[in-house]
Parts: sequence; C-alpha cells; structure tokens
Amino acid sequence: MTQHLSSLTFMQTFSSKLETALNNLSMAQFPPDARRTMRTFSSTEVAALLDVTEAYIRQVAQKEQGPVPEMLNGRRMYTLEQVLELRIALATNGRKKWLNPRRVDGERCQIIAVTNFKGGSSKTSTTIHLGHYLALRGYRVLAVDLDPQASLTALHGNLPNFDYRAGDTLYSAIRFEAPVETASIIHKTHIAGFDVICAGLELTEFETAVALEMRRAGGTGFLLRVSQALEQVADDYDFILMDSAPSLNFLTLSSLTAATGVLIPVPAHMLDVDSTAKFLELAGSYMQILDEVGTSAQWDFAKFLITKFEANDHPQANMSALMRQVFGEDLLLNSVIKSTAVADALTWKQSLYEVQRSRFSAPKTYDRAIESINAANSELESLFWKAWGRE
Ligand SMILES: Nc1ncnc2c1ncn2[C@@H]1O[C@H](COP(=O)(O)OP(=O)(O)OP(=O)(O)O)[C@@H](O)[C@H]1O
Ligand SMILES: [Mg+2]
Repeated sequence: MTQHLSSLTFMQTFSSKLETALNNLSMAQFPPDARRTMRTFSSTEVAALLDVTEAYIRQVAQKEQGPVPEMLNGRRMYTLEQVLELRIALATNGRKKWLNPRRVDGERCQIIAVTNFKGGSSKTSTTIHLGHYLALRGYRVLAVDLDPQASLTALHGNLPNFDYRAGDTLYSAIRFEAPVETASIIHKTHIAGFDVICAGLELTEFETAVALEMRRAGGTGFLLRVSQALEQVADDYDFILMDSAPSLNFLTLSSLTAATGVLIPVPAHMLDVDSTAKFLELAGSYMQILDEVGTSAQWDFAKFLITKFEANDHPQANMSALMRQVFGEDLLLNSVIKSTAVADALTWKQSLYEVQRSRFSAPKTYDRAIESINAANSELESLFWKAWGRE
C-alpha cells in the first residue's frame, strides 16, 4: 500500500492556491478603490416604498418640499438616502407618522438569529434579503456574519478598511481576553441603514477559547458573550440580524442566547427537514442543560420558513403540507420560491433589492421572486411589530 500524499501539504497547497485565485477574482470584480453604490429609485418605486401614491411624491417634488432627485431620461430618480430623508420629513412634518417605523421608547432592539445546521438551507440569502428589506423600509439594521465561511461578508465586495486577518470579526468583541468595543468592528455599507459586522476564520477561535475558559472558570458565562457584545450597540439599531454557520457550536449557542427571535429557513426536502429535526433535537438537549442551570434563552418568537420552494414539485408540495401540519402556526404562511433570479443576484454579490429589474433577461422571473420574498418579509415585519406590542 502506498501513501504518498501528505495531508498537510495537500491542505496547505490548495488553501493558498485557492485563496490567491479567489483574491485575484475578487480584486478584478471589486477593486479596493471601487466604491459600490446602491441603485436609485423611480417615483413609482419610492411611492411603493413609502406606501403613498405616486401623485403625492410628484406633488412633494413639484413643490420642492423634499430632497432634489437626479433627472434621468426625464424621470426623477431618488437615492436611498433621499428616500430616507423624505420618509423622515413626511413623518415629522406631515400627518404620516407611521412612515417612520423605527422603534420608540419601550420597544427594544430585536436580535434575530437566522439559523439551522443544515448547510445550504438559505440562511445567508434569508438574512440579506430580510436585512435589505428592513433597511429599505426605513429601519436601522445591523447584520452580523457568524459564519467563518463569511458568505454574507463576501456579498459586500471589498469593504473599505475590512481585513479579516486583522481581528475584524465579532470574535474580537466576544473573546475573553481584552475584547474590543463592538462599535469598532461595525462597517457601513453602500446601503443606507444597513451596517455589517464581517466574519472570517478567526471566529472559530471562540470554540477553543470557550473550552479553555470552561476549564479555567467553569460555568456557562460564555453564553452571554454575544449578547454582551451586541448590547453595546443595540441602542443604534432597530434590528440586529445574525447569519449563522451551518453548525451547532458554542458560537451558535451564544447567539441563540442573545436572540430575541429565531428564524429557521428550511427547504421542503426530506433530507433538509430530517436534518432540521436533528438540529432541533440537539439544540433542545443543550437548552435543557441550560434550563437546569437557569440560563436558557427566552424568545419573542421562533418561526420556520420554507425556502427554495417549487410548488409544482410533488414531493415538495407533500413535504410542505406535512410541515404545515407539524409546525402549525410556527411555520410562516409565506414560502420563498426557488428562483434563478435569486441565484443570479447572489452570484453578482447582490440581493434582489439591489439589482434593477431590467438587468434580468426574464423580468417576470424577477417579479415572481421579489413578490415571494416581499411577502415573507412583510409577514416577518408584522411579527416584529407584534413583539413590540404594536397593532
Ligand atoms: N430562493 C432561492 N432560489 C434559488 N436559489 C437560492 C435561493 N435561496 C438560496 N439559493 C441558493 O442556494 C445556495 C445556498 O444558499 P445560502 O448560501 O443562502 O444558504 P446557507 O444556509 O446560508 O448556506 P450555508 O449553510 O453554507 O451557510 C446558494 O447557492 C444560493 O444562491
Ligand atoms: Mg450561509
């Protein structure tokens, strides 16, 4: 028997080759000095975003009461910052108070964990689409990438000043020795109202650090690390969304402890549902141990969301019926459909909210996808309002 291949050489060779190749690709697509910008919005889109008539938006523009939009081919085009300005101005000066949906005194910042240890169940896609939806609606959102694979981070291209090697992930704020201030690792993005904390391999160090800490000091104090770090900045946001890694480790447990609400995306496939059942069983057994020591998490809600759904596929239709029967009210009414529009947008490192409809070769496909995502997000928004005690 011959064993010529050194596992160490293999791993090191390909990790470095791949990293170089990916870096080059990323540099070509997103040169460090190229600033990403968010697209602009037509009066029709602004009216839809603000839930007012287009005539009303035109009237405000004609009377020069709001921000001055750029004219493009005779059409008024607004930046997201201008939409936000218009929103706040209309809410403050007019009778449309509801236009500013940000939380008020007595409503706490909602920390939502998007989690499931089944890989590829749409956690990252769900997080980015929910986050962008909320930012477009005028909320202040912080997205926290808790996956060392850093998929959510990668969706932002090259962020200025972000270096995953230089301790710029949440690990720096949750480590036991000399943690940094959480505010120092937050990055603004090209989307107004949407900030991120990036991820990198460094996040895996939390697992070893917790093991050492437990040996040193015992107890379950590590569970509070994520919560303590996020508390520092919670005042500045309406929502903090955490995109989890496909694993149930100390970091996931700590994020579940920090969460005020949980969202579990699941494709309606036998294997995914089976894996989710195991995830729940394992999480349940951990939670029971924590309950016994009095540190179990209390959430406002925990909901399942069917993702990548293909209604015409019989096995999926059957599985979704079964899920509805089992999960009852804990399964969101709306499912997110499987769509090449979503897959394409993510390949372009964008959410559907960032891409112009005209960029898709089949705009109808885009329409169906965005309609489905909007419906799920709007259902979630109602749930968030309920948690705040709003009507
Ligand atoms: N609604 C959708 N329609 C089509 N493709 C989708 C949809 N949602 C996600 N995908 C694709 O499925 C794959 C997995 O999605 P995503 O990365 O969001 O899952 P994940 O749960 O975050 O994965 P991981 O466990 O690796 O973190 C991606 O290639 C993505 O483009
Ligand atoms: Mg992911």
